[in-house]
Amino acid sequence: QSPRILVLGALNADLVCHLPHIVAPGETIMAAEPQVFFGGKGGNQAVAAARMGASVGMIGAVGDDDHGAAMLANLQQNGVATDLVQKMPCASGQAWIQIAADGENAIIVLPGANDQFDAKAAQPCDVFVSQMELGLPRVAPKLREFHAQGAVTVLNMAPMPQDASVEEVVDCLLHTAHLVVNELEWAALQQLMQVEDSADLARTFDTAVIVTRGGDGAEMTSPDGTVTRSTATAVEVVDTTGAGDTFVGVYAAMLAKGQPPAAALNHATRAASMACRALGAQSGMPREEDLDMMGAA
Ligand code: RIB
Repeated sequence: QSPRILVLGALNADLVCHLPHIVAPGETIMAAEPQVFFGGKGGNQAVAAARMGASVGMIGAVGDDDHGAAMLANLQQNGVATDLVQKMPCASGQAWIQIAADGENAIIVLPGANDQFDAKAAQPCDVFVSQMELGLPRVAPKLREFHAQGAVTVLNMAPMPQDASVEEVVDCLLHTAHLVVNELEWAALQQLMQVEDSADLARTFDTAVIVTRGGDGAEMTSPDGTVTRSTATAVEVVDTTGAGDTFVGVYAAMLAKGQPPAAALNHATRAASMACRALGAQSGMPREEDLDMMGAA
């Protein structure tokens, strides 16, 4: 039986506009027609994990529109099981994405169907993954449920919940075995939780705390205080959208395959670099064999 990962999260149609720079407050910029890509942090993470050869199921929702049908087909083509994806009588989620000439991005999310569904009970899994795009009130009960069932829980605190109380975040962290945040999310979390450093948080919640730093790689602090660093691979950056999701999906896949967290960290960092080489969140995500080749290079 292959490892089973369940990913709870948002599914979006990404409408991408190319601009010389991210629009500044009060500024108007003309752009060409947007290009449409598959996205949503949940969908991206599920696809990234499935491309590593893991057995992956998605928990989420699409609308009853063309985007929804295309997103379902895309998940299935990537080998992600969609029996826990609900079709809601509304529009699918959309993300309006600005890509600047240097590859940086800014994203506005319109949740659509992502905001309209209640995740049903699922079969137990080996690894449970979530982000915060569905909102903390939807994510927290599932984290609790899967943690209680004995799953290894991976929480990507992205986006960092804006109005969450300390108690709500504590509740999530108590049921998280591996926490992944980028530098901005880490700064916000550190401030909210009033922790000295990642070792403090890792020890308090018995959680591996991973901070991703874009081109500077990633850093994992284990509950015993051990710090492991990984180095990003130098690539020509076209689009950083979905790089963080690639990291999370590949990290979860490697854990599900029985790799130790330090090895998972290395694979995930390399995969995230590779994902930046193509336009669209999922287009550049590597397959297992691409990652092996890149590692051997
Ligand atoms: O993390 C990138 C994703 O965030 C995009 O695919 C977009 O849909 C937003 O959810």
